[in-house]
Amino acid sequence: MFTFSSTQASVNDTQPLDLVAAIQTLKQELNAVILAHYYQEPEIQDIADFIGDSLGLSRQAASTSADVIVFAGVHFMAETAKILNPTKQVLIPDLNAGCSLADSCPPDAFAAFKADHPKHLVISYINCTAEIKAMSDIICTSSNAVELVRQIPQDQPIIFAPDQNLGRYVMAQTGRDMVLWKGSCIVHETFSERRLLELKVEHSSAEIIAHPECEAAILRHADYIGSTTALLNYTQQSSADTFIVATESGILHQMQKQNPLKHYIPAPPTGTCACNECPYMRLNTLEKVYWAMKRRSPEVTVSEQTRIAALKPIQRMLDMSA
Ligand code: 13P
Ligand code: SF4
Repeated sequence: MFTFSSTQASVNDTQPLDLVAAIQTLKQELNAVILAHYYQEPEIQDIADFIGDSLGLSRQAASTSADVIVFAGVHFMAETAKILNPTKQVLIPDLNAGCSLADSCPPDAFAAFKADHPKHLVISYINCTAEIKAMSDIICTSSNAVELVRQIPQDQPIIFAPDQNLGRYVMAQTGRDMVLWKGSCIVHETFSERRLLELKVEHSSAEIIAHPECEAAILRHADYIGSTTALLNYTQQSSADTFIVATESGILHQMQKQNPLKHYIPAPPTGTCACNECPYMRLNTLEKVYWAMKRRSPEVTVSEQTRIAALKPIQRMLDMSA
């Protein structure tokens, strides 16, 4: 029987196992790299070789020389790593770590939507399944969506999927009209405009910073909008000393680590729930990272036909991004 505390596991009552040390040993044995998203638990972020936003993580996955990629993030992220690295083993701590946004765009319905707009170029946010990527022309992330759309000729009609909030934000930034798939993220839809403004009254010198997956009612109050990496960088560069942060609260760990003298307040959700924590991201734990490496499972796989089709738009994104 195996039991765990947060950073210790015991194989029996007399043999406690230091999880961090055990993960480091397995990393050497497997020649593994641990990639983690900012929405992971702090203790997972602290053992990662690289922490980043979706673009940064894709770039790391594309360039790693490791034999095994342990992806502490959600399924579509690990799947992207697999698409880029068909010969490497890609492990995910919990196979149920999905994404409400990716789920909001089922392949059959999207194929029909695409067929209704035969002249449109399909730009899909990376938060989608490999099947949706395979039906797309270009993949984008929150850090390059505006830049990529600006590179498309003005007379080329565009479908943007699956996040309608990011799509609307890109439309506002570029002045382009796009046909939007009406998907969204349960975490970024949770923030309350009224409570955000109450917080701003309480902390008048605070800057509001937001992820573009948030609804327009939140984004319109933001002093700065960007991907998780961009938000993190902004808190370090800005002269403000307090920030109200409208994205998943996991990012606060790196903000605090990088500048502990500043203050970071998570933007409040509508109710009293912890809805600003992504329930999928938080399925991953340090224990599950250990077991995934020890058992070399669960593994993320993609059929070769889908992989080849999905690789093209991902590669196009990497080529088109600065
Ligand atoms: P980025 O880290 O790329 O900004 O994405 C946020 C997100 O929602 C990941 O699921
Ligand atoms: Fe998906 Fe939202 Fe969680 Fe990101 S925060 S993984 S978009 S459900």
